[in-house]
Amino acid sequence: KNSTSDYIEVDELEKAPQSEQKKWEKDQMASAVFKFGAKDASKGDEYELLLEDQIDFIQALQMPGSKDKLKKEPELTEVEMKKLTIEETKRSLPIFPFRDDLIQAVQEHQVLIIEGETGSGKTTQIPQYLHEAGFTADGKKIGCTQPRRVAAMSVAARVAQEMGVKLGNEVGYAIRFEDCTSERTIIKYMTDGTLHREFLSEPDLQSYNVMIIDEAHERTLHTDILFGLVKDIARFRPDLKLLISSATLDAQKFSEFFDDAPIFRIPGRRFPVDIYYTKAPEADYVDACVISILQIHVTQPLGDILVFLTGQEEIETCQELLQDRLRRLGSKVKELIVLPVYANLPSDMQAKIFDPTPPGARKVVLATNIAETSLTIDNIIYVIDPGFAKQNHFNSRTGMESLMVVPISKASANQRAGRAGRVAAGKCFRLYTAWSYKHELEDNTVPEIQRINLGNAVLMLKALGINDLVHFDFLDPPPHETLVLALEQLYALGALNHHGELTKLGRRMAEFPVDPMMAKALLASEKYKCSEEIVTITAMLSVNSAIFYRPKDKIIHADTARKNFNHLGGDHLSLLNVYNQWRDTDYSTQWCYENFIQSMKRARDVREQLVGLMQRVEIEIVSNINETVNIRKAITAGYFYHVARLSKGGNYKTAKHNQTVTIHPNSALFEELPRWILYHELVFTTKEFMRQVIEIESKWLLEVAPHYYKPKELEDSTNKKMPKTIGRTTMTD
Ligand code: CDP
Ligand code: MG
Repeated sequence: KNSTSDYIEVDELEKAPQSEQKKWEKDQMASAVFKFGAKDASKGDEYELLLEDQIDFIQALQMPGSKDKLKKEPELTEVEMKKLTIEETKRSLPIFPFRDDLIQAVQEHQVLIIEGETGSGKTTQIPQYLHEAGFTADGKKIGCTQPRRVAAMSVAARVAQEMGVKLGNEVGYAIRFEDCTSERTIIKYMTDGTLHREFLSEPDLQSYNVMIIDEAHERTLHTDILFGLVKDIARFRPDLKLLISSATLDAQKFSEFFDDAPIFRIPGRRFPVDIYYTKAPEADYVDACVISILQIHVTQPLGDILVFLTGQEEIETCQELLQDRLRRLGSKVKELIVLPVYANLPSDMQAKIFDPTPPGARKVVLATNIAETSLTIDNIIYVIDPGFAKQNHFNSRTGMESLMVVPISKASANQRAGRAGRVAAGKCFRLYTAWSYKHELEDNTVPEIQRINLGNAVLMLKALGINDLVHFDFLDPPPHETLVLALEQLYALGALNHHGELTKLGRRMAEFPVDPMMAKALLASEKYKCSEEIVTITAMLSVNSAIFYRPKDKIIHADTARKNFNHLGGDHLSLLNVYNQWRDTDYSTQWCYENFIQSMKRARDVREQLVGLMQRVEIEIVSNINETVNIRKAITAGYFYHVARLSKGGNYKTAKHNQTVTIHPNSALFEELPRWILYHELVFTTKEFMRQVIEIESKWLLEVAPHYYKPKELEDSTNKKMPKTIGRTTMTD
């Protein structure tokens, strides 16, 4: 049972003998919980209610010694008030004393593994050190990859600032659909996926003197593949310096992979972090987060809070709940600045998390996994960790890939906790029990390459001329069946011939930095004479979750506005409606505001890029807006795997594997229930939901994928909609 291990620090948990634990527990019970409650009762009902809700937390916060420990630390306000100059900040980073050693090590070795705790200055400083040491003297670049878009952008901005140059000149970044570099750029941050694509145009990375594969521990699919690619390049280009930089203890593994490359360790500097667990599992962790934030805010000394949530929607919910409660508390509490950060957040908003907190106030950052290692926010003293993250999972048996919220690993949990101890002793509140930490969390996160669809990666590798994927130099090889399935899918899409070689179509598909299915739909739009529409739809889908804005206090208005865009052909067409109406207002911001639409500027940027790529593969942009059948056929030509047919009870079954799936309630087709539908993606919450669906006719499948579907599999091709009068519960197939 979990009852004995609540609120014990992880280290203690491993070693404390039973008797000691019992004694400790008794101390806990006798501690000042009730005094605490009474003391603050005068502050008002709202507050007292919170205390009741979260009595376990109060207990944790009142843990004997924890208060004293905090007292001994320098007053946090002082830390905050002391604004360092850029130069002082640079000198204060743990990496700074090792500057010269590091430069020397790079000069002496071609490949170097760098290990240093998050926040030690690897990402921002190493490129600058190497630049200062002359590694860019000949005009060639230092490249640095990041698994996340936000990190690439914000780190580049920071380094440009430190160097006193304009972002996009000497220091720039490149991410998918956005290139903020110039001829003058010598330090270039980019996502790992972007470098992956750069190999297509520059297979030997000739324009770089140094390549840093950063955040290697994240083990994203692209980073994993880059390992194999850069290892190969290093053999041909003895002048290219290769740095693999990692925050955790995988360094040994990286070293072995890179022929025993030396490891350069930057000693960590970390303050202790007390870890607390909840007594019982939290049913609603977003709510628990809100309560914990307030709890910390009213009971704990100043110092900023970092909260880990799984995605934009959750962050928005949390933000609204929190702001609502803060409003009700009014001037009873100090100022609390609430700042979200997630991938789709506009970059000026993202930048706000780095602004210093004003004296006397506290900041709370609501972040996705992005803040686990990629971004370092100064002055974080408190971390709240609900223990979940969003991950893509691919089932190679059913060929289904689904985004789902999953428990994090112990390694992740400890990284998150570590974020609290950078500037002073910190506290991490885990919204799960010590028991589940110990028994339910995996030790390490499974690398992406072993759990996602490899279609994209395989297409890229084939385009690079790497034909024998089974013998590609993987750090950890993907499961054989996933690789085979990717090959099969690419074959069905027409990207590979039956020898597994890239076809002409496949080569054109590889030009697009999108999923192979999407690339195929883009190319198919030529035949169906609707490239204009498919380009728009693709752009909209690539920012999709962020388009419809749904503020808590205006949900009805927002939903009504959204419904006005609905197209009965399906959600792709609704998105097309949104874009075209916006275009017709001459891209009006006011229009977006009135219609609860956001992120359109990004959609427009993406769209422009896509138009450019279409020109590169010589597809004319032509419009065929009134022929939605053609538009839907073009989409089907790419997404014919993602097809489901209506089954009992308003559910659907996937066409090939008979898996149960359901239309997402947000869909325009949620109540329509067409017989055959195509979905863009699956999201698993309580069940497998299909997000973004269109109605199709089964006979189109034979037209667009005759080698994949047999008429018999699609025998019901009447294509009539089910009469609406038949309720979903009585419906039979
Ligand atoms: O890569 P690593 O985790 O070792 O550290 P880093 O990202 O280079 O961060 C070093 C310092 O730069 C931290 O103190 C960050 O707070 C600061 N930084 C910043 O102020 N703004 C950014 N956009 C990125 C980093
Ligand atoms: Mg870093």
